[in-house]
Amino acid sequence: MPSPKLSVQTTTLWEYPSQHYGDGEQGSKDYRGATPSYIIWNLLERYTKKNDLVVDPFCGSGTTLDVAADMKRKGLGYDLQPHHERVLRADARDLPLENNKADFVFMDPPYGDNLTYSGLPECIGEIPATDPRYFEAFEQVFAEVERILRPGRYMAIYVSDIWKSSAFVPIGSILSEMLAQRFLPVDHIAVVRGNKDLEKGNYHKSAEEEKFFLRGFNHLLIFKKPEAGEVRRARVEGKVRQRKESREMGDPKREDGRGPRRGGGGGRSGGGGQRRGGGGGPWNSGR
Ligand SMILES: C[S@@+](CC[C@H](N)C(=O)[O-])C[C@H]1O[C@@H](n2cnc3c(N)ncnc32)[C@H](O)[C@@H]1O
Repeated sequence: MPSPKLSVQTTTLWEYPSQHYGDGEQGSKDYRGATPSYIIWNLLERYTKKNDLVVDPFCGSGTTLDVAADMKRKGLGYDLQPHHERVLRADARDLPLENNKADFVFMDPPYGDNLTYSGLPECIGEIPATDPRYFEAFEQVFAEVERILRPGRYMAIYVSDIWKSSAFVPIGSILSEMLAQRFLPVDHIAVVRGNKDLEKGNYHKSAEEEKFFLRGFNHLLIFKKPEAGEVRRARVEGKVRQRKESREMGDPKREDGRGPRRGGGGGRSGGGGQRRGGGGGPWNSGR
């Protein structure tokens, strides 16, 4: 069956009932977790121009490289387990690329340990999303993206939340909060999932009986690296939140003399304050 016509998306709800566009294939349909290529096509259409350098640190079967080539952009893809002749082997937390080189960064990383990829200890997909090490790994990935991206240019991350073993992990919101400490928020798209599991009647029956929801959409979070002199709204807001939190917790340096609340406070909805190199935050609670 031919793929439906590729079209530029103009709302924050994206749907395209096919993994690939056109007559060919971008990336590989046989690669578990391959990204639907129309998502990357739409992002490159909007945020890049001819000859721009597009980088994907979790490039797998090379969907990003194939789309970039179709659109006459340059592509650089990295993965621990390259599954495309032009994907280079590298850890997304330590990319062999100079500072400020990328015109756009796209990422579709593992969503906790929902799929098995290489099985390598460095694979972020070996870490359950309920383990604080999962979000700590993203702190390092985002620092690398901030380093390689040119100021004034855009990045996007495509992720799903996880509901597993009675635990809901709002991966999209947590990553969005973390990214806002480094970049300027641009938009948040919901992409309708075309996962075949959603067609299985027994999945829907379990969802009803066990009172959980099947994941119907993925988050597509879009951010911009500020240019020099551009207001660092994200960081400023982060500082405001941090000050508010320290007031609520009773900062010992404050004149009112209230000591810090025992047990740290915060919790899942605690919000920002996360700075480079780890530290506190909702994704680190329980440590
Ligand atoms: C959802 S898949 C990406 C699929 C890819 N966009 C495609 O269309 O084929 C996630 C990828 O992350 C890779 N990965 C996991 N941990 C990594 C790490 N630390 N550094 C680089 N790649 C990693 C996995 O090997 C896997 O290929």
